[in-house]
Amino acid sequence: MRYAPSASNRQNWRYTVITDKKEINKLSKETSNFFRVARKLLPLRFLVVPFLGASERRRVLDPSTKIQLDSSLESMNEGEDIIFFDAPCVIILYARKYTKNLAANDAGVALTHGMLAAQALGLGTCWIGFAQRKLNGSRKLKKHYNIPKGFDVLGVITVGQPAMEYRRAPPRRKLKVHWIE
Ligand SMILES: Cc1cc2nc3c(=O)[nH]c(=O)nc-3n(C[C@H](O)[C@H](O)[C@H](O)COP(=O)(O)O)c2cc1C
Repeated sequence: MRYAPSASNRQNWRYTVITDKKEINKLSKETSNFFRVARKLLPLRFLVVPFLGASERRRVLDPSTKIQLDSSLESMNEGEDIIFFDAPCVIILYARKYTKNLAANDAGVALTHGMLAAQALGLGTCWIGFAQRKLNGSRKLKKHYNIPKGFDVLGVITVGQPAMEYRRAPPRRKLKVHWIE
């Protein structure tokens, strides 16, 4: 990740690496509270729908959302770590924002370098947007994980031993490409 390219070679990023199981559990618990709150609020969704953007509106009105939330809550109640999947290492990337969101681009490049390098070493990774969102919304948690004032969390990934091996690339939609030749 250190050698990843960045806009103007700013290398604007900083990291917190957590390997303390207690600390990973703490962040997981704090983050997964979102699922409890979301499930509680779901019956009231018709009241908030007019204030939501198109994609969020689609999500709260989709009947599968309730099924997914119930299934996540059930797993949580059985003690599963539905946020970090029991990974032994969580990496948080944070940076000061600068021009036109380039810091977020740099973060994506740096973490993806790490994800590909980990894969080459036989490790597995997963980007955890839920934790990223939770951290950015909590001054207290940011402080707890050593993220200074004025810095945004621009990525969180887990690193661990993959539980399964892929035999082929997972399916993806066809690329939408506009060729100008
Ligand atoms: C920005 C970003 C945020 C993500 N957030 C989460 C997350 O919070 N929890 C999770 O389990 N997976 C998360 N993922 C993983 C995606 O769900 C996953 O990459 C996608 O479904 C494709 O699956 P694959 O990588 O196994 O092919 C995230 C991926 C990205 C790129």
